[in-house]
Amino acid sequence: MPIPAEILRKKRDGHALTSEEIQFLVDGIVAGTISHAQAAAFLMASCIRGLRSDETVALTMAMARSGVCYDWRELGYAVDKHSTGGVGDKLSLLVAPIAAAAGARVPMMSGRGLGHTGGTVDKLESIVGFSTALSNAHARAQLERLGVIMIAQSAEVAPADRILYSLRDETGTVESVGLITASIISKKIAEGANGLVLDVKVGRGAFMQQMEDARALAQMLVDVGRGAGLDVHVAVTDMNDPLGYAAGNWVEVLEAERALAEPSACPSDIEELTLHLSGAMLQLAGLATTLDEGIARARAVWHCGAAWERFHQLIAAQGGDWDGSRERYQHVPTFVLRSPQNGYIAGFATRTIGLALVELGAGRRRATDSVDPAAGVVFHCKRGDWCERGEPLATLYACASDRFDFVAEQIRSAIEFSSEPPVPRGGLILESFGS
Ligand code: URA
Repeated sequence: MPIPAEILRKKRDGHALTSEEIQFLVDGIVAGTISHAQAAAFLMASCIRGLRSDETVALTMAMARSGVCYDWRELGYAVDKHSTGGVGDKLSLLVAPIAAAAGARVPMMSGRGLGHTGGTVDKLESIVGFSTALSNAHARAQLERLGVIMIAQSAEVAPADRILYSLRDETGTVESVGLITASIISKKIAEGANGLVLDVKVGRGAFMQQMEDARALAQMLVDVGRGAGLDVHVAVTDMNDPLGYAAGNWVEVLEAERALAEPSACPSDIEELTLHLSGAMLQLAGLATTLDEGIARARAVWHCGAAWERFHQLIAAQGGDWDGSRERYQHVPTFVLRSPQNGYIAGFATRTIGLALVELGAGRRRATDSVDPAAGVVFHCKRGDWCERGEPLATLYACASDRFDFVAEQIRSAIEFSSEPPVPRGGLILESFGS
C-alpha cells in the first residue's frame, strides 16, 4: 500500500505521478483515508509544479469514475456548455433554454462560485423554491419533456471533484490548467454529455489572464475531452469587463430573464456570446450543419419567445416560484455608488469586483459559508461610457447592509476613468475551434 506522504513529496519535488498513484489519491480522498490536509497539499503541489497531460487524463478519469455516471443515450444526443469562470457570467441561464427550445437535450450540471467567479448553481438557488437536486426519475422525465435540466453535482456524481473543488476554492489553488481541466471534464463525463461547448475565459476577470495560458487550457480541455470520447467545441472569450450589467446571484438571474424576454434590449456582449455558444451546441447536436446555421436557429427561438417560455417552464419544473422571487427581492437593502469624477469609463479591475462580491456575500470565503442570494451589483455604465461626477455608477444589493461602505469602496477603486474615450475592443470571441 503506497504511503500518501511519499506520493505528495514526489509531486512537491516536481516529478510526474503515475496513473496508479493518482487513482490511489482520488480513491482515498473519496473514502476519507486521505485527509483534506493531504488533498490540499496535492492541490498546491499540482498547482505549483503543473500536471502533465498524462497526469491530467489520469486525474480526470479517476475523478469521473469516483461516483455514478449518468447515461441519457436513449433520449438522444446530450449536449452541454461549461465556462471556466467569470464575473457576471450568466450565459448558462440563457444558452440552456435556447438550445433546448431549438431541440437539443441539455443535462446541464453546474458548479457553485469558485474563487472570485460566480457559480450557476448559486444563481439558480436564488430563485425561491428552485431545486438543483433532482431525483434520477425527475431528471430523466424533465429532460424528455423540456429537453433541459439544470442541476448541481449530487453527492454521487464525481464526488472527488466536489471535494477538490471546494478545497481549491479555500486554498487558492484554482488557477491550474490540469486541475481546471480535470474538474470540468470529469463532471461532463459523469453527467453523461456527448458534446460539450467550452467557454474558456481570458482577461482581468478570468482565472487565465494571459492569452497563452488560456490557449493552453483550451487545448488541454479539447485533448482530454476528446480522449474521453466527447465532441468538443471551444471558444476563447474576452473576460476583461463584467458581462452585461449585473454580477451576483438574483441580479444575474433577473438580467438573464429580461434578456430572454426582450432580445432587442439585451446587452451586446451577452448577445454575442449567447448566440455563439448556443449555436455551437446546436451544431454539435446535429441540429445545424454549420455554426452560422446554429446561430441562426438559436436567434430564431430566442426572438420568437420560445426560449423565454422554456426558461420559465424549466424554473417551474424544478420547483421555482418566479413571482415569489420578484416579490422577495423587491425590499432588499441597496446602496447607490456615485461617480467621484467626470470622465470616460476606461475599464474595470474585474477580479477585484469578483472579490468584492464575495465580501458582499454573493460568494464564499470558506466552503461551509452560505451565500446571500440577494447579494450583487448592477452597474449603470459600461466601458467607453461618459460619466458625470455624482451620477450613479452602480447599485449594490445585499441583506447585510453593514458591508456596503467597504464593498462600495472596493468597487469604486475597480472602475477606471480616463479623460479620453478608451480604444474600442473588437468582438468577445477571440478564437474558436472544435469538432
Ligand atoms: N468550472 C469547473 O467546474 N471547475 C473549474 O475548475 C473551473 C470552472
